[in-house]
Amino acid sequence: MNLMSRVTRLGCALAFCCLALVLWGVPGTRALNNGLAMTPTMGWLHWERFMCNVNCQEEPDSCISEKLFLQMAELMVSDGWKDAGYQYLCIDDCWMAPQRDSKGRLQADSNRFPNGIRHLADFVHSKGLKLGIYADAGNKTCAGYPGSYGYYDIDAKTFADWGVDLLKFDGCYCDSVKHLADGYKQMSLALNRTGRSIVYSCEWPLYAWPFVKPNYTEIRQYCNHWRNSADIYDSWQSVRSILDWTSSNQESVVPAAGPGGWNDPDMLVIGNFGLSQDQQVTQMALWAIMAAPLFMSNDLRHISPEAKGLLQNKDVIAINQDPLGKQGYRLRKSDNFEVWERPLSNLAWAVAVVNLQDIGGPRSYTIPIASLGKGLACNPACLITQLLPVKTKLGFYEWTKSLKTQINPTGTVLLRLESASKIASKSSL
Ligand code: GAL
Repeated sequence: MNLMSRVTRLGCALAFCCLALVLWGVPGTRALNNGLAMTPTMGWLHWERFMCNVNCQEEPDSCISEKLFLQMAELMVSDGWKDAGYQYLCIDDCWMAPQRDSKGRLQADSNRFPNGIRHLADFVHSKGLKLGIYADAGNKTCAGYPGSYGYYDIDAKTFADWGVDLLKFDGCYCDSVKHLADGYKQMSLALNRTGRSIVYSCEWPLYAWPFVKPNYTEIRQYCNHWRNSADIYDSWQSVRSILDWTSSNQESVVPAAGPGGWNDPDMLVIGNFGLSQDQQVTQMALWAIMAAPLFMSNDLRHISPEAKGLLQNKDVIAINQDPLGKQGYRLRKSDNFEVWERPLSNLAWAVAVVNLQDIGGPRSYTIPIASLGKGLACNPACLITQLLPVKTKLGFYEWTKSLKTQINPTGTVLLRLESASKIASKSSL
């Protein structure tokens, strides 16, 4: 080989290494390589609303049973949820029989799921929806049903055979952080080996945090989304504590999110009992800013038109699902106000102003336009639309101007900012 071709080869090898190093740092390139969850997953999950109700004798309409999921599947299609993007109908804990079958496979409780999961999956698929299921990396699920420890391959195969499309994998009853990490990794690889496309929803960092700082680069390589913080409850205090956790840890968690892998702040509880209308607006707006998977946990048979309108709000869902796939963050906190922002595709930004004061009436907050979007969102000007609580076109704002908002106690004003230069270049086409 002559010197020139050696030099060329060396140059190519170096260029390849540099490219690999650059790609290494870009979220999206190191995500779980299953091609799923390129935008945050949307669907319905039974846990917060229906918990572990197995008493079908006394409460036939709200126990964890085939009937509940068949009804939700029908409604997801007939009431516009599927069209709005909510595609995954997900079973949480308490679906299983207390014992595995003679071949070591998990089986559904035969009284509550008389036709088995395969039948339910077929029905769900016939509606154009996808089915999610739940299992646990440890010796038992959190509610005490059979755990997957020692059965990762069998369970992955069983789920694939049934036609399951998503697995929520919990982390109860793991006896060490190593067991936890190994369990999450092994199940990820086992799901991959089935050859079926199965979204993998983890709780790995939540269980790891008390012992070690989770390695988000690694978690992202195995999971499509991961829970970081405590279970959501149907209360404002719970929603607030999840927001506080996320903003306090944003330097660790925000860079980890991107197409294929997302931080999961837990279910949307909109449509239940614990949040006022303003607080429901806050949850919807901030889950959009956080690029959160949107799993509603509510009763689609009984839901107010306000809650439905909010959950199906196209403009807010478009922010959540923005293809740039960058998670937003808290920009500022002062005087019981918080400003959050999220970069969007086409140089647009989403901005949420939250009034955390839960005494008194609406308060006004003035934002200097130049402080938004790292100084770039409105340079030299932008078009601002308020999306929540009510859609209102606010018009063009120059970089030097300020925007005054009025926000109800515990409510949020959600804004979308479109770059004026982008609008000008679009209209000149
Ligand atoms: C918890 C999990 C909840 C729910 C519950 C079921 O650990 O965080 O979301 O799945 O277990 O028992």
